[in-house]
Amino acid sequence: MQTKRIYIDGICPEIELIQEGAHWLQVGELVAFPTETVYGLGANALDALACAKIFAAKGRPQDNPLIVHVCSRAMADTLVDGWTAEAELCVQHFWPGPLTLVLKKNSVIPDVVTAGLPHLALRMPSHPVALRLIEEAGLPIAAPSANKSGKPSPTSGSHVWRDMKGKIPLILDAGACSVGLESTVLDLSGDVPMILRPGGISREQLEELLGEVRVDTPRENQAPKAPGMKYRHYAPQGEMILLVGSSEHVVQRMDQEIRRGHARLKKVGILCTLESAPFLHPLLPDLLFVLGSKDRPEEVAGSLFEGLRLCDERGMGLILAEGIEEAGLGAAVMNRLQKAAGQRIEYI
Ligand code: TXA
Ligand code: MG
Repeated sequence: MQTKRIYIDGICPEIELIQEGAHWLQVGELVAFPTETVYGLGANALDALACAKIFAAKGRPQDNPLIVHVCSRAMADTLVDGWTAEAELCVQHFWPGPLTLVLKKNSVIPDVVTAGLPHLALRMPSHPVALRLIEEAGLPIAAPSANKSGKPSPTSGSHVWRDMKGKIPLILDAGACSVGLESTVLDLSGDVPMILRPGGISREQLEELLGEVRVDTPRENQAPKAPGMKYRHYAPQGEMILLVGSSEHVVQRMDQEIRRGHARLKKVGILCTLESAPFLHPLLPDLLFVLGSKDRPEEVAGSLFEGLRLCDERGMGLILAEGIEEAGLGAAVMNRLQKAAGQRIEYI
């Protein structure tokens, strides 16, 4: 299949380009589009065959359900079986924005979307291109992140192009995404609201609104409530070690690991904070990527996936990443870094 990549204004999207995207969605095809979090790979959420194409294009396991995107509360109403008071509050405060709500679904959503679960994950994105596209299509849009399954989510049109070229007819490219990591998935079906995936809205922000909020931390042999959280994710091709500690200790450990990596003839890539970068530069890694200041987790969130992808593109055999504090958006950043590193995490 030939893939067309078109550049679209991210603030005032050109209507004829939106219409082109809406057309493909209406005829059951896939369109990649920007949201404020990451790029999505969209299909008509009411069309089981169109949604099945998403799983094929990504190589996504069938048991991993999709988030459905809407452009209005009225559209959301057509998909769920009522709203709890907490859900209402969340909608008022955080929609449109990076918060996905897991609610009881009604029968219009095909089973392939929810992987047979009785609940539906629903979100209203704030990106103008996403909102206009859904509005123009007049359809709820099922959309996972537009990456190949297992890879970091795409935060630019180029990332999508690399992963989806030849697999889908259209990519709407509006440049970089502002948040840079995925939405928070919040389950409101139990007694206490539960974060199934940390993301763009922090636990602290949710607790301010709802009181106690728990985080789903499944024990070994227990399945996470968001099926997607059980898969190894964001994994770069090279070996990756996540180092958490004071700047001084992290730099020391990285020094050892850079030497060890070079002795094994591996290219060594570093993902670090602005504060540690001046001390790491003289150690001559093959790639030094500054994620942002450790005091500004939103900066780190915005560049993390770009950094991970760059390490792969440049063929890093060993990747050393510096962790940040798990507060606010830092919790979501650390969740992604931990997943990318698999089991290799050192607290020093
Ligand atoms: O920011 C985002 O959420 C992006 C943009 C495109 O909106 N989308 C995204 O989708 O990250 P995806 O498919 O890559 O991740 C969705 C996560 C998965 O972990 C999935 O298992 C979980 O949400 N999920 C989806 N539907 C669910 C449901 N009904 N119940 C529990 N978890 C669900
Ligand atoms: Mg994803």
